[in-house]
Amino acid sequence: MTTVHPHPEEPEPMTTAPSAFPSPSPARQIVPPEDRYATELAFLAAHDDGPRPPAWRLTPRAVVTFVMGSAGRALKLPDDAGVPDGVPRRLVVEDKFVGDRALVERCVVTLAGERGLLLVGEPGTAKSMLSELLSTAVCGTSALVVQGTAGTTEDQLKYGWNYALLLAQGPTRQALVPSPVLTAMSRGAVARVEEVTRCLPEVQDALVSLLSERRIAVPELAGSEDALAHAAPGFNLIATANLRDKGVSEMSAALKRRFNFETVGPIGDLDAETALVRGQARASVERAGAPFQVDDAVLEALVTAFRDLREGRSTEGWEVERPSTVMSTAEAVSVAGALALAAAYFPGDRDVLGLLPGHLLGVVRKDDPADAARLRGYWDGPVRRRAEQGSATWRTLWDLRTVLEG
Ligand SMILES: Nc1ncnc2c1ncn2[C@@H]1O[C@H](COP(=O)(O)OP(=O)(O)O)[C@@H](O)[C@H]1O
Ligand SMILES: [Mg+2]
Repeated sequence: MTTVHPHPEEPEPMTTAPSAFPSPSPARQIVPPEDRYATELAFLAAHDDGPRPPAWRLTPRAVVTFVMGSAGRALKLPDDAGVPDGVPRRLVVEDKFVGDRALVERCVVTLAGERGLLLVGEPGTAKSMLSELLSTAVCGTSALVVQGTAGTTEDQLKYGWNYALLLAQGPTRQALVPSPVLTAMSRGAVARVEEVTRCLPEVQDALVSLLSERRIAVPELAGSEDALAHAAPGFNLIATANLRDKGVSEMSAALKRRFNFETVGPIGDLDAETALVRGQARASVERAGAPFQVDDAVLEALVTAFRDLREGRSTEGWEVERPSTVMSTAEAVSVAGALALAAAYFPGDRDVLGLLPGHLLGVVRKDDPADAARLRGYWDGPVRRRAEQGSATWRTLWDLRTVLEG
């Protein structure tokens, strides 16, 4: 009798089919707000038990508190409030969106009135973040989202089909694949449409009838009760659009009428912007398990340079030629994160301040090569003057001017 030895390189026999998405660890690169802030959401639901619009998880006031944070103050649950497991009785709600509280209140009122909300503004002003936070606070999820592109189809806003089932069964409820918008309609949740003006006009028009009639017809299922999907109370849409995309596909007047517009601007206050940039850069290196060691002076110079170039005027009031690239807070956060990682992984190699001109050049040069000259102009103007006025940080930056000449 012979024994068959398995070839040493032969893989172990499989007992179960391999998953298409093997997940060795439950860690995720980005934790969505509904999970990241689950404790805050449960706390706020218990903290404010006032009247809520139909199907809302939180009161309008608690939604604003969730989005803006409690400014470092601990909120306390009323003594008689029941507390779900794991929810503390006192909690500081983290600051998230930095900006105008009145703007956030208007957004919440729009949603409470079951009108669509359109957030417009320059790229990197936290429109997407705000739409995620609002939808999470209102309905408990930010996941019902359609990304608008020139290739977005009406199906992606309404419904599609599972073709295998469609062929096997014909058009049935099981074969229908709902879009995130249709799912939101049936659950009474908030769907998000990102960059809505990138969609072609006829695709945008699908939203018009959906927002006015609050239902989606499925003619393929005619005769069955699923032929018309009605929006449950609580259904709403939050869309975002970038001002820089103007002209890509302008929104029709009909669609504009169905949304309340809110313009999200850059952060007004230098200290608030610096604090945000510091907090996010710190979080990103700490996630990587490294210590955060970037001086405040470096961060302040970084944020100041971004703001001067964004506004076309320095803090001192000197004229600055604006690059065509948007110098957004989001970009400032990513440069600060890169500096913080460099400081953590290559300590002592070089002062991180020395890396700043190169990073600024990288940000500025994205759209238009002429922007590099504008950055050199900024160096020859405000950077030089500050150096001459005796600032050590700006002196170092001025001495690095040659970096910008590449
Ligand atoms: N006002 C702000 N408050 C909080 N974070 C901001 C603000 N502006 C910019 N950011 C930062 O910018 C990041 C990107 O914002 P995002 O929502 O993608 O912008 P947009 O959708 O407007 O292009 C946010 O995750 C945050 O780190
Ligand atoms: Mg966005």
